[in-house]
Amino acid sequence: MTSPLAPFHAQILTLFPEMFPGPLGAALAGKALESGLWKLDVLNIRDFATDKHRTVDDTPYGGGAGMVLRPDVVAAAVRGAAQQFGSAARKIYLSPRGRVLDQAFVEELVAARSVLLLCGRYEGVDQRALDAEGLEEVSLGDFVLAGGEVAALALLEACTRLIPGVMGNEATVDEESFSQGLLEYPHYTRPAQWEGREVPDVLISGHHEKVNAWRLAQAQELTRQRRPDLWEKAQKGTKTEKKG
Ligand SMILES: C[S@@+](CC[C@H](N)C(=O)[O-])C[C@H]1O[C@@H](n2cnc3c(N)ncnc32)[C@H](O)[C@@H]1O
Repeated sequence: MTSPLAPFHAQILTLFPEMFPGPLGAALAGKALESGLWKLDVLNIRDFATDKHRTVDDTPYGGGAGMVLRPDVVAAAVRGAAQQFGSAARKIYLSPRGRVLDQAFVEELVAARSVLLLCGRYEGVDQRALDAEGLEEVSLGDFVLAGGEVAALALLEACTRLIPGVMGNEATVDEESFSQGLLEYPHYTRPAQWEGREVPDVLISGHHEKVNAWRLAQAQELTRQRRPDLWEKAQKGTKTEKKG
């Protein structure tokens, strides 16, 4: 079992271990990794192949193009990770068929403290290994990547910035897009005038309440225009809150 004080722990199963930590070794996530605010363990799926050629895939039953990752090899890798690093609280297979990743799910994963991420390749993974190991399928979006590694990196970057102590200013995390169910308001910085374009007056008024009201109105309008799906949810949430 994971102690509530243990750092967030990510276990990766991949055929390309050299892709990790990749971009997560840089910037704030990289510093946090170095200082132990989160932990990363990477296993090569190929190390769990048993034949002399270290075969991990085979042709699909029923015919068709491409290759499929074998159930025995994938299951051995998931079990091997549990033996070496402890069973992860959430076990995920990155897959275009999965539920689409969103901020609420990222928050759930950070709260769970440990996650195993299986990165597929080729046509994907034999269904029996997914079923036997209880892997949840999670997608980065409605498009097809060549492998799960980039999706795993994106998911982990979203997770690591929510770990207390990783971001310089914790308050920014609460104000960002999706954290309040809205897209974020527009930002401005110096110079106050640039190529004939000005910063909205209210932002230089020094009147905090008016600034907050302007930002909220902008966030609501942007969400209504660009993401009617989120806007509808946000409105339902407000109605429920008012009732409660
Ligand atoms: C070429 S894809 C396989 C696509 C699969 N044959 C299909 O049509 O659903 C190879 C691997 O990339 C990963 N992958 C591709 N697109 C993804 C996405 N949108 N989100 C998460 N992982 C993805 C998965 O791990 C998948 O097993």
